[in-house]
Amino acid sequence: MGDLKTLANSTSNSPEITSLLSQLPRAKWWEELDLYLWEGAWYFPSVLESTLAFRSHFDSSGTTADFILASNPKTGTTWLKALASYIMNCTRNNDGGGYVIDENVEDPLLKNHPHELVKTLECVTYLKNQTPDLSAIPSPRLFHTHLGYNVLLESIKNSTDCKIVYVVRNPNDTFISLWHFMNSARTPEQGIFPIEEAFENFCNGVYIFGPFFDHVLGYWKESLNRPNKVMFIKYEEMKKNPREQVKKLASFLGRPLASDEEVDKVVWRCSIDRLKNLEVNKYGMSLWDGLSKSSFFRIGTVGDWKNYFTSEMKERLEELTRSSLEGSGLNFEIL
Ligand code: A3P
Repeated sequence: MGDLKTLANSTSNSPEITSLLSQLPRAKWWEELDLYLWEGAWYFPSVLESTLAFRSHFDSSGTTADFILASNPKTGTTWLKALASYIMNCTRNNDGGGYVIDENVEDPLLKNHPHELVKTLECVTYLKNQTPDLSAIPSPRLFHTHLGYNVLLESIKNSTDCKIVYVVRNPNDTFISLWHFMNSARTPEQGIFPIEEAFENFCNGVYIFGPFFDHVLGYWKESLNRPNKVMFIKYEEMKKNPREQVKKLASFLGRPLASDEEVDKVVWRCSIDRLKNLEVNKYGMSLWDGLSKSSFFRIGTVGDWKNYFTSEMKERLEELTRSSLEGSGLNFEIL
């Protein structure tokens, strides 16, 4: 896995992080990646260190309005980043009746991968610089995080100027997407990682930012308690009815779109069919060493898990999903 391994496993070796890591439960993931269990979730050492930096440095108080996009890995992060940044780029219609795409402004997705437009706080922004200057970013600022709701800063949770959008996907497709994604970072010599072993880890919650259901339920409960603060979107609903979901997202972001025509333009310009064929997304490495830009766009469908799951895998994840979500009011239509 080369560069990914170096990026994931290394820290600054400061006494603080070294001491913390020495006290935490540890696991190996995909043969060579180190994971540590901190506050109920698994982290690469480098990401744990940047998470701590984020928690002591990030400020969402005061006059700056922030939007935080949040997700479990492989649940539609790239899509949500594209949509949110595109919507935030819209301008108010001259007659005041909503927001439109300003065709005089260059399409931000033509020159930037969605992960460059909206950076992941603990995986990018704070990874190489523990005290980044975020004050120059114009308000409203748009960030992303894979962190669980329980470890988000109180200032994010309590600020009335800060809103959260969480995207979720059914666990079956999430797992298959994660398996493909991690395989894409392996060398030909390493070959494909055994799906059975990856599945075992996923079901046990041992993967980056896992366990899956704790992550989902943290944001789900908050979206029930405070729907104006936390918007909860399902990947499958975006696939089924993108127009309706994009309209809702735009309104939540304070940029209600002026017409169905504008909505359709946003839907198409952020679609996987368009994005995966843009030069900017086809070549080169992403902001994460060892992961190509193109690996964030695969097929983007619902139900690909059926091409890989045995009946035992299906039953096991079905039962885990049922028992984990029982009484929560959340369910997945797993097609
Ligand atoms: P698949 O591997 O099932 O194709 P994340 O962005 O959280 O890393 O999730 C990646 C998954 O979202 C991949 O799923 C990828 O193909 C899909 N995806 C990326 N961009 C998308 C888009 N614009 N529309 C729909 N799905 C998209």
